[in-house]
Amino acid sequence: MECNRSNKMPSISKSKIAISPCAENTINPIRKLVDQLIINPNPTKRLLKLNIGDPSVFGNFNPPPEVIKAVSDNLQTSCYGYIPAHGLIPTREAIANFYTTEKSPLTFEDVYITSGCSDALRVAMDCLGSEKGNILLPKPGFPLYQTIAGNRGIPVKFYNLLSEEDWVIDLKHLEQLIDENTAAILVTNPSNPCGSAFSVKHQMEILRVAEKHNLPIIADEIYQNMVFEGDSKSFGELSTNVPILSCGGLAKRWLVPGWRVGWLIVHDRHERLSQVKDGLIRLCQVILGANALIQGAVPQILATVPQSFYKDTVTRLKKAADILYSELKNIPQIRPFMPKGAMYMMVQIKVEELHDINDDMEFVEKLIEEQSVFPLPANIFGIPNYVRLVLTAPEDILREACKRIAEFCDVHKLRNLPKRSRGCP
Ligand SMILES: Cc1ncc(COP(=O)(O)O)c(C=O)c1O
Repeated sequence: MECNRSNKMPSISKSKIAISPCAENTINPIRKLVDQLIINPNPTKRLLKLNIGDPSVFGNFNPPPEVIKAVSDNLQTSCYGYIPAHGLIPTREAIANFYTTEKSPLTFEDVYITSGCSDALRVAMDCLGSEKGNILLPKPGFPLYQTIAGNRGIPVKFYNLLSEEDWVIDLKHLEQLIDENTAAILVTNPSNPCGSAFSVKHQMEILRVAEKHNLPIIADEIYQNMVFEGDSKSFGELSTNVPILSCGGLAKRWLVPGWRVGWLIVHDRHERLSQVKDGLIRLCQVILGANALIQGAVPQILATVPQSFYKDTVTRLKKAADILYSELKNIPQIRPFMPKGAMYMMVQIKVEELHDINDDMEFVEKLIEEQSVFPLPANIFGIPNYVRLVLTAPEDILREACKRIAEFCDVHKLRNLPKRSRGCP
């Protein structure tokens, strides 16, 4: 056999390795915008970060002891191996029982366990959307929907939410966007970033539009039941004819976003979803399933966490919203929108009332630089000149942030001077 006895090494290429179109088109708008932001806090003031929708960051919203105990008990009995990719049957059963209502009975076969609600959204969008089948998304909306769609090459169109009407869906606009290639309508209720919660009447109006156009709904219900007043209904409970793929998880209501267990609940109507159900199983298999230890603890979590815990979380979020609203509503240059649920408040920036600030990005950059307060510019969610504040910070931080925002607005308020544009000295 002939062999190459040359000692000469092949020349090493220094050219960059190209990335795939899939990687290229996977864009997280939050990262993109935060990368553009100039974050230079005032060194004399403690940085108050009201930008992250993670309830665990301040240490004041913790999971209840029953949640910790359930995982610790499960650690003793849990197996170490792979489990079915779409979830353990007892876990699926427990979730089906937890969300069953008289009008919408569920069995374990309607439940798919995913790696967080994000993964449930990925599976749902991937199962219904395609390069030809567009999905309608809310504006303002949670940016991950775009990240998933970009990654899969699914075209999206944005329907407006109406700020002056408690962020309800502009149904006329929604209908105008529907075409013969529309595959699904995605709705978020309660909403990140708006903090809104739809009335049952509005949910029924949305269902009527979906029914008229024969479209399924992907309902992002990760904040389900986290409403400040009244009852919260899921789209699955209300739908009689529209197929619903409801996405949820442990992250927000049980305050453990890092544990990465979510679920997708299928509310099949008129047994139209047999192919979809098969597709969901296939798509769950892409990652060989979610964390077995945590999902194994879910039945105990759902059985043992007392109602008082859920109630207390919502009461405290509402109190935080009340503090922010009452402190911010009297500042003439901004306008807070009182939330009805979830963990966020949207605040409009009246740029015409500020002499040297032209948009939400500039507002946030200067607010960080001068006052070390960091809200999220709502450009990230698709609308300009709003910022989003989180409700999960402790009361003293919220009050301090409001005081600094008031001082900031007073310094920058319009004083009969010609308005300067971004970039001018
Ligand atoms: C509206 C919405 N959907 C989904 C998610 C993601 O949830 P998870 O952490 O379970 O993936 C979030 C997280 O902030 C969210 O706000």
